[in-house]
Amino acid sequence: MGSKNKLKRFKENETFENVIQPTREEVITGFQYKGKWHSFFGNNKPIVLELGCGKGEYAIALAQKNPDKNFIGIDIKGARFWRGAKTAIENKMDNVAFVRTQIELIDFIFAENEVDEIWITFPDPQIKYKRTKHRLTNSEFLKKYHKILNSEGCVNLKTDSEFMHGYTLGLLHGEGHEVLHANHDVYKNVYSPKEVIETQTFYEKQYLEQGKPITYIKFRIRPF
Ligand SMILES: C[S@@+](CC[C@H](N)C(=O)[O-])C[C@H]1O[C@@H](n2cnc3c(N)ncnc32)[C@H](O)[C@@H]1O
Repeated sequence: MGSKNKLKRFKENETFENVIQPTREEVITGFQYKGKWHSFFGNNKPIVLELGCGKGEYAIALAQKNPDKNFIGIDIKGARFWRGAKTAIENKMDNVAFVRTQIELIDFIFAENEVDEIWITFPDPQIKYKRTKHRLTNSEFLKKYHKILNSEGCVNLKTDSEFMHGYTLGLLHGEGHEVLHANHDVYKNVYSPKEVIETQTFYEKQYLEQGKPITYIKFRIRPF
């Protein structure tokens, strides 16, 4: 994407009512919607997150199918989620929002128990050892997710990366979390939940074209 196009999207994002772009300072000194997301949406519907949402395909698709829930896509790259935000506006969807922030700050964005479910769609596996701290299913991230999820809340991980799949499964078993579903090839498994096979993200479509199997884990994090 050219820099002109990016600038145009950044400008448009600033005018979108479904986009929130707080500074780091605003987030860590008392984020305005922490514990008050229901006032943002104007209702008490359950809140579902898509982390590292990119263009926000999952947030949009799930929001269209589940008008009884609110969906929030989170990514640091505003030019990407511009697509999802624009689609939501064009389709008059009032149950989707996008927040431009670092996932590391998630527990400043949401209060304890405020979130019902998390989707992590095709995260960068961060294979190098030095990058472990950026891997979105490492123990530190799980602690943060556990903090904001309610007691029944689950995490869904969809990835093309065997490494990410194996790493996450190993960690979940090692730390005693509850694996509700694990699947090595969602499009070949008759037990794949429909929300896993009905929507393909931008990255997923590329992996499918390369003939890569797509894996899925659904889990519940035990108290730390
Ligand atoms: C490989 S892309 C996947 C995008 C989308 N989920 C998809 O499947 O098409 C990973 C996305 O996660 C975002 N991301 C990675 N680490 C992040 C972090 N720590 N905080 C916020 N966004 C992050 C990147 O900006 C990128 O858009």
